[in-house]
Amino acid sequence: MSKRIAVIGAGPSGLAQLRAFQSAKAKGADIPEIVCFEKQANWGGLWNYSWRTGLDEHGEPVHNSMYRYLWSNGPKEGLEFADYSFEEHFGKQIASYPPRAVLFDYIEGRVKKAGVRDWIRFSTSIRFVRYDEKSGTFTVTAHDLVNDRMYEEIFDHVIVASGHFSTPNVPEFPGFSNFGGRILHAHDFRDALEFKGMDILIIGTSYSAEDIGSQCWKYGAKSITVSHRTGPMGYGWPDNWQEVPLLERVEGTTAFFKDGTSKHVDAIILCTGYKHHFPFLPDDLRLKTANRLAAADLYKGVTWVHNTKLFYLGMQDQWFTFNMFDAQAWWVRDVILGRIAVPTDKATLIKDVTDRVAREDAGKDAHDAIHYQGDYVKELIAETDYPSFDVDGACEAFFQWKGHKVEGIMTFRDNAYKSVITGTMAPIHHTPWKHALEDTMESYLNN
Ligand SMILES: Cc1cc2nc3c(=O)[nH]c(=O)nc-3n(C[C@H](O)[C@H](O)[C@H](O)COP(=O)(O)OP(=O)(O)OC[C@H]3O[C@@H](n4cnc5c(N)ncnc54)[C@H](O)[C@@H]3O)c2cc1C
Ligand SMILES: NC(=O)c1ccc[n+]([C@@H]2O[C@H](COP(=O)([O-])OP(=O)(O)OC[C@H]3O[C@@H](n4cnc5c(N)ncnc54)[C@H](OP(=O)(O)O)[C@@H]3O)[C@@H](O)[C@H]2O)c1
Repeated sequence: MSKRIAVIGAGPSGLAQLRAFQSAKAKGADIPEIVCFEKQANWGGLWNYSWRTGLDEHGEPVHNSMYRYLWSNGPKEGLEFADYSFEEHFGKQIASYPPRAVLFDYIEGRVKKAGVRDWIRFSTSIRFVRYDEKSGTFTVTAHDLVNDRMYEEIFDHVIVASGHFSTPNVPEFPGFSNFGGRILHAHDFRDALEFKGMDILIIGTSYSAEDIGSQCWKYGAKSITVSHRTGPMGYGWPDNWQEVPLLERVEGTTAFFKDGTSKHVDAIILCTGYKHHFPFLPDDLRLKTANRLAAADLYKGVTWVHNTKLFYLGMQDQWFTFNMFDAQAWWVRDVILGRIAVPTDKATLIKDVTDRVAREDAGKDAHDAIHYQGDYVKELIAETDYPSFDVDGACEAFFQWKGHKVEGIMTFRDNAYKSVITGTMAPIHHTPWKHALEDTMESYLNN
C-alpha cells in the first residue's frame, strides 16, 4: 500500500492507532506507511510524567497534567486492553487503582511487545496541517525540536491524537492579582507536599478538584475548602474539609464566597478543567467541541464530518479510556484499509452526530452516561476484529466504583474488582490508600 498516514501524538490514543495497524500487519494485511509525531521525548502522553511546568526544554508548552502521587481515579478493570491484560503484563493480577507509574508501565508494555517504537518521531512537534483539495492530500509541517529544523511532508490521512486535558481553562476572580499566596491551575500541580500545613482553596467540583484536594489532605494540608459554581460534590469529607459556594473575590489572603462567608487561604488551586486546543489546525480542520460524550462534528465519534480523510481519537469526555481509544483506533484503521465505508453525503454524517448528541442528552445521570459510552464502545468493536470483551461487565465495575466513593471518598481505592478480560478478581492492596504515602511501582506490585 502506498498511502501515508500521519498520527499526531503518542499518548494512549496514538499508541492504540499504532497497535491497531501493527495487529493487522501481523495478520498479513498490507498496511500503509505510518508516521507518528510526538513532541515529547518519550511515549505515554499524560502518563509520561514530567516534573516540569510551563515550558519545556525546547520552549514548548509542557503537556503533562499529572502529578507525583496520582493513582488511577477509576478501577483498572474499566480500562483494561482486550488484547493485553494486566496479568499478561505483570505476570499476576494486581490491585485495582494503580499509581501512575504502574499504568505507564502497562501502556508501554503492549507497544514494546508490538515493536512500533520505530514508527514514532519523538521530540517532533506538529506546527501546521493544511489540506489541498486538488491533490486530496494533507501537508504536515513538523518541527524537529532537537535539531531545530522545520520540514513538510505529504500524507493521505491525518489522525489527531493530541489529547484534550493539557491546555488549562483558567478563569480569573477579582483580587487575584493582589493575592498573598500562590495561584495555580491543576495542570501545574505536581507535589502535594508543597501544600503541607496550608489552608488550600480549590475551585471546581470534578475529578481534579476531588483528587487534588484528596492528595493535599493525604499529604498533610491543614484544611481544604472547595468552591463550587453549580453544586457541591457532597461526599462524606474529613473534618478539615468544607464545600462552599463560588468564590466572589479575594483580599490579601482572605477568600470571600457568594453566601457572604469568608476564609483565610494560603494557596488557590483552579481545578477548572481543560480546553480542546489545536493550534496546529486551520479553521476548516479544527475541532471545536465541549468536553462531552458526544463530541461535535465527529461521525462515529472519530471522523471529521467536514473532511472524512481526517480523524480524531479520544476527544470525548471519558468514563472509558484505553479500551475506548482502542475501539476507535481499530475502527479508523479499518476505514483507512477500505474495510469500513464512511457515508459520502454530509447530511448522513451530520445526522449521526446529532443523533449521538440527542442520545447523550436523553440520559439523566452518571449511570446513563456510563451505559451510553459503553454502548459506543460496543458499537465500534462490533465492526472490527478488536477482541470482543464484556463491556457491560466493565460498566458494572464503574457502577460499583461510584457506590464505593459514596461509601467512603478516602477509602474507595481500597476495593477490588473482577477483570472482564481474564475473569480474575484483583487482590486488595496491601496498604489503605490514605496511608500509602510511598507509591512506587515496586511497592504497589508487592502483593
Ligand atoms: C490529571 C489527569 C489524570 C487522569 N487520570 C486518569 C486515570 O486515572 N485513568 C484513566 O483512564 N484516564 C485518566 N485520565 C484521562 C486521560 O485523558 C487518558 O488516560 C489518556 O491519557 C488520554 O490519552 P490521549 O492519547 O488521548 O491523550 P494524551 O495522553 O494527552 O496524549 C497526547 C499526546 O499528544 C502529544 N502532542 C500534543 N500536541 C502535539 C503536537 N502538536 N505535536 C506532536 N505531539 C503532540 C502530547 O505530547 C502527548 O504525548 C487523566 C487525565 C488527567 C488530566
Ligand atoms: N487521579 C485521577 O485519575 C485524575 C485526577 C484528576 C483528573 N483526572 C481526569 O482529568 C480529566 C479532567 O478533569 P477535571 O476535573 O480537570 O475537569 P472537568 O471534569 O472538565 O471539570 C471542570 C470543573 O471546573 C469547573 N469550572 C469550570 N470553569 C469554571 C469557572 N469559571 N468557575 C468555577 N468553576 C468552573 C466545572 O464546574 P461546573 O460543574 O459548574 O461546570 C467543573 O467542576 C477527567 O477525565 C478526569 O478523570 C483524573
